[in-house]
Amino acid sequence: MGEALERAAQVLDRARRVVAFTGAGISAESGIPTFRDPGGLWAHFRPEEVATAEAFERDPDRVWAWYQQRRRVIEAAQPNPGHYALAAMEPYFEEFTVVTQNVDRLHHRAGSHHVIELHGTLLEYHCHRCGRPYTEEPLPAETAPYCPVCGGRIRPSVVWFGELLPAAAFAAAEQAVDRCEVLLSIGTSGEVYPAAGLVWRAKAMGATVVEINPAPSELSTAADILIRQKAGSALPELVRRLQQYRQQARP
Ligand code: OAD
Repeated sequence: MGEALERAAQVLDRARRVVAFTGAGISAESGIPTFRDPGGLWAHFRPEEVATAEAFERDPDRVWAWYQQRRRVIEAAQPNPGHYALAAMEPYFEEFTVVTQNVDRLHHRAGSHHVIELHGTLLEYHCHRCGRPYTEEPLPAETAPYCPVCGGRIRPSVVWFGELLPAAAFAAAEQAVDRCEVLLSIGTSGEVYPAAGLVWRAKAMGATVVEINPAPSELSTAADILIRQKAGSALPELVRRLQQYRQQARP
């Protein structure tokens, strides 16, 4: 275990461009439930009832209320040492890009500057019909507001199953992945595509893939280095060792 961390610190020390690809697991230690772990969100709710356009069109208020409940959890949460460690890594590299599947904005709150949100964010809203952003406050807890322009219903700006990922975000993520020498895959089951395909893409392009996850995932076989620890303890230790390497005089 310690040996895997040391190898990861060594490859990071030699790298100039790094991508951190994150999933719900990095926010688990902030008290935000994951999706597929025992007790995760998909153990209690069926995705097709709360996380598809069809579900929203059938019952907008139910879907709205479910996301507003999740928003309250997110707003009450704080970034954890895993998020802070990724923010602390940034200055050690020419390029350090966080590509996240999370909608909670905790990477931003922890101070990361280059964050690509592949699945949108739960903290912004737009009209499901005309697409206009919606910024009126306060937001109701139970009822999806109506668009003041077209009368459509307002939805959170997250990506639902069956929807396309934001094209600009995905293209930027692909670019970062193609350029990186190391990809850290952190707290994701790797079951949701096209996001998970980025890890395989990095591997195909020759990057060293490091997985940080206490449990095996669909991406474990892509990984060159497996760190079987929680992100909140592994990442701060990784930064500490990287700092040590960088402080050592180079020939
Ligand atoms: P999952 O719930 O599928 O996977 C969470 C992963 O985090 C698992 O592999 C856990 O082992 C791991 N994990 C749990 N605690 C951890 C910790 N403290 N440190 C590190 N890892 C930990 O979540 P995602 O992979 O993010 O999409 O799910 C991908 C997408 O599926 C989500 O973005 C969401 C969901 O449906 C949409 O809503 C479109």
